Amino acid sequence: MAAHWDDLCGRRPPSEMSWYQDEPTVSLSLLEALRATKEQPVVDVGGGASVLVDRLLDLSFGDVSVLDVSSTSLAHARRRLGERAEGVHWIHEDVLTWRPQRRYGIWHDRAVFHFLVEEEQRSAYLAALRTALTADGRVVIGTFTGDGPRQCSGLPVLGYDPGGLAAVFGPEFEVVERRREVHHTPGGAEQPFT
Ligand SMILES: C[S@@+](CC[C@H](N)C(=O)[O-])C[C@H]1O[C@@H](n2cnc3c(N)ncnc32)[C@H](O)[C@@H]1O
Repeated sequence: MAAHWDDLCGRRPPSEMSWYQDEPTVSLSLLEALRATKEQPVVDVGGGASVLVDRLLDLSFGDVSVLDVSSTSLAHARRRLGERAEGVHWIHEDVLTWRPQRRYGIWHDRAVFHFLVEEEQRSAYLAALRTALTADGRVVIGTFTGDGPRQCSGLPVLGYDPGGLAAVFGPEFEVVERRREVHHTPGGAEQPFT
């Protein structure tokens, strides 16, 4: 898994990846809707080279972690941040085998969960989430929609509508906000996200 993502993310600059976005507008707006506070520790799961970490630092979030299975993606983000990278916890792990050593008030994942096409992968992900999240923690998840792509980055994906996603996470989570966002890839394709 790490080799696949390292290879893919090493081929082109982050701005040419299909999932690239200049600004994580929807993620930031959902964090606001969830009343996330900058005192809450945040982990961006599969954050890769996303600029969400930059924006969280700009907003003075004091405890920001980025987890990714690809060291290439993490290196892109660290380079971009320069000295500011020292203020971020970089976690080079596969979320499916990660054993969180602490808790987070905010778990953010844009475009990782939909790659978990096997039941045991989703169970492993949810086990990490339950271990990592505080009792009052907030979760922002962005996946392809049920009518979205069937494959991405050379891997099969499973899309969700908001109800389907809520069902996978189960009754211990309360749905606060649901959105549909049409992402425009750098190549000009449209990808609907839940
Ligand atoms: C489609 S990209 C999305 C990156 C970022 N969230 C964004 O929105 O720009 C998926 C990212 O998740 C990482 N990833 C994929 N599977 C993972 C796993 N099992 N554990 C941790 N990271 C993973 C990849 O290396 C890649 O950086």
